Amino acid sequence: MKKLEVFGVSKLKGQIKISGSKNASLPILAATLLSEKKISLTNVPQVKDVETMIKLLESMGSKVKKIRNENSLTIQNNKNMKTKAGYNLMSTMRAGIIVLGPLLARFGKAKVSTPGGCSIGVRPIDIHLEALKCMGVQYKIIDGYVHANAKSGLIGAKIRFPKISVGATENLLIASCLAKGQTILSNCAIEPEIKDLTKFLNSMGAKITWIGKRQVKIVGVKKFKEVKYKIMFDRIEAGTMLIAGAINQNNLKIKAIEPNILKTEINILKKVGAKVIKKKNEINIQGRVKIKNINLKTSPFPGFATDLQAQMMVLLCKANKKSVIKEDIFENRFQSVSELRRMNANINVKGNKATIEGNTIFKGAQVMATDLRASASLVLAALSAKGKTTISRIYHLDRGYEDLEKKLKKVGAKIRRIN
Ligand code: UD1
Repeated sequence: MKKLEVFGVSKLKGQIKISGSKNASLPILAATLLSEKKISLTNVPQVKDVETMIKLLESMGSKVKKIRNENSLTIQNNKNMKTKAGYNLMSTMRAGIIVLGPLLARFGKAKVSTPGGCSIGVRPIDIHLEALKCMGVQYKIIDGYVHANAKSGLIGAKIRFPKISVGATENLLIASCLAKGQTILSNCAIEPEIKDLTKFLNSMGAKITWIGKRQVKIVGVKKFKEVKYKIMFDRIEAGTMLIAGAINQNNLKIKAIEPNILKTEINILKKVGAKVIKKKNEINIQGRVKIKNINLKTSPFPGFATDLQAQMMVLLCKANKKSVIKEDIFENRFQSVSELRRMNANINVKGNKATIEGNTIFKGAQVMATDLRASASLVLAALSAKGKTTISRIYHLDRGYEDLEKKLKKVGAKIRRIN
């Protein structure tokens, strides 16, 4: 099994170009199922989850052509596609559930494996299923598969989500594009990736209008057109690199981004004392000798992203006083804590609150990655740790970060992959 070896303390200096967004690519790839026209996508990150989504589409009959080394692909979905999403691929990537909506919208039936367990929490799909039911879908769960059908097609409806869910908003947004009549979705997630999905769908001919902060109107259409679309930048990768810049008085230029999308993160980094300069498609960040403590909680966008919580925890370990992080989205998202403790961090967890004592001098150790973002936090800690850190189970990292070691090496990190 592959491991990462990191030798600290690394002072990072230089430019990092951020890749295309994983969390925008996944729903956009699923949404291609709506159309039989050719779709070209650029800025698609080469990460494991995207590969898995492509395999899932291919297993249903999609013809995908990747343009090597260019982060581009074309995709063509025929008239006749299989409508089954099998367990093997679904079990490794929860976002696979987003194929349910488009399959029902276009083919009126789907058999999709339930996503199965996930180390960061239970992650049910009840909100997706109940919302689809409002559009005329009938379903049963048999032997780990959702068997769903909408014999007379999907019918536009007014749906208020009981809780803000990124995946459920995406599933319903995509499905509604081919429904009969008008759909209004309320209490939607408004993550930038959902706005990117909206732009993509509209560019292929959907009729989607955001009519309130968390409310969207979709008028169903019958056909789509050929489209070429560039996926937005990965704001979680950008946030991870910004945090890397704030640790150890590093001096980084984060490029190929839209700084406005990172407002919340930038404000927090400024509050803890980092020097942040926004430019048009770039942010320059420089860490300070003294990092100030801060209390924060994760919440849906525009709040602080749960996907950056573990990385921020590492920065707060370096603060001059105690900080508290409250995790309000997933119930089991402090998995990196025990590993960070092995590296000398002083963090205590009670329920969904982590108290970070600060003033940590990280020390290299053998640690284990437990989930995607927790893995990134271990890399950040390792970069500021004295001595060698070996991180095992880095397949988690490969699910969502494109060329992480290459990018970090380029700005001065001593990091290498070993078998
Ligand atoms: C997406 C992101 C993930 C991010 C998360 C929250 C992708 C591919 N993944 O995950 O990186 O951490 O948003 O920003 O974009 N819930 C239910 N029932 C449901 C659906 C969700 O109870 O049917 C709960 C979840 O358990 C969780 C909360 O709602 O507590 C939010 O989850 P959701 O926004 O749906 O996350 P994902 O779409 O799975």
